[in-house]
Amino acid sequence: MTDWTPLATTGDLQPGDRRTAFVDDEPVLLIRIGDDYFCVADACTHDGQPLGDGPIDGIEITCSRHGARFNLTSGEALCMPATEAILSYEVQARDGQILARPAKVNDNRSATGGAGQIDGEVSAEPAEESRPASEKTGPPDPDATSGDDETADAVEMIESLREVIDPELLINIVDLGLIYDIRPEHDKVTVDMTLTSPACPAGPQLVQQAKLALEKLDSIETAEINLVMTPPWTPERMTDDARDKLGIF
Ligand code: FES
Repeated sequence: MTDWTPLATTGDLQPGDRRTAFVDDEPVLLIRIGDDYFCVADACTHDGQPLGDGPIDGIEITCSRHGARFNLTSGEALCMPATEAILSYEVQARDGQILARPAKVNDNRSATGGAGQIDGEVSAEPAEESRPASEKTGPPDPDATSGDDETADAVEMIESLREVIDPELLINIVDLGLIYDIRPEHDKVTVDMTLTSPACPAGPQLVQQAKLALEKLDSIETAEINLVMTPPWTPERMTDDARDKLGIF
């Protein structure tokens, strides 16, 4: 195991403060939240840019470039466009110094670090069948779309939405699991759609393209796209094919 590296003295950081440093020549971010210290790699796994100035909420940091979020204890990537954990570090306060060393990496490629260990409760995943439609993975079931079935072809609409490609991930919005519900009614359709992250810079473009993709169908006069963030999108919502393309197993 690598030796501990001193990063700061205990008086250097006040609650809410952060500083960049190096451990084993790798850039890291040391953060104090309350009386706890967290240390993670200062490099977003989306494209290697620093996380340093990203907003922090609880024990999550958001990359200010494209909105990927990471858990500060485990390093786990919590939302797209990042799919891989950042390295997290164990932190220790000793003799007036804050020290860090790389945490042990777990099977899921995230690691557990942090000075004040915060236990995460692992809740059992509900069975796929028992989840609300908006929480199921993959594209909506054409037979389960709500609304007036007589006037619209759900399969046709889903196929049309598949033409809308997320420019960051190069996967269509249906296979990404961004479409939560499709409610046709005569020549109108209302779609509940989410984004991989609230800060997704491509969001307005994807919403507009989804609307156009539906309104080009002969059976649809007007398409209304509701952007919803609840439940939040997770990589588990993607189809197997999409996950294969992104190298998520
Ligand atoms: S560089 Fe961090 S989300 Fe893109």
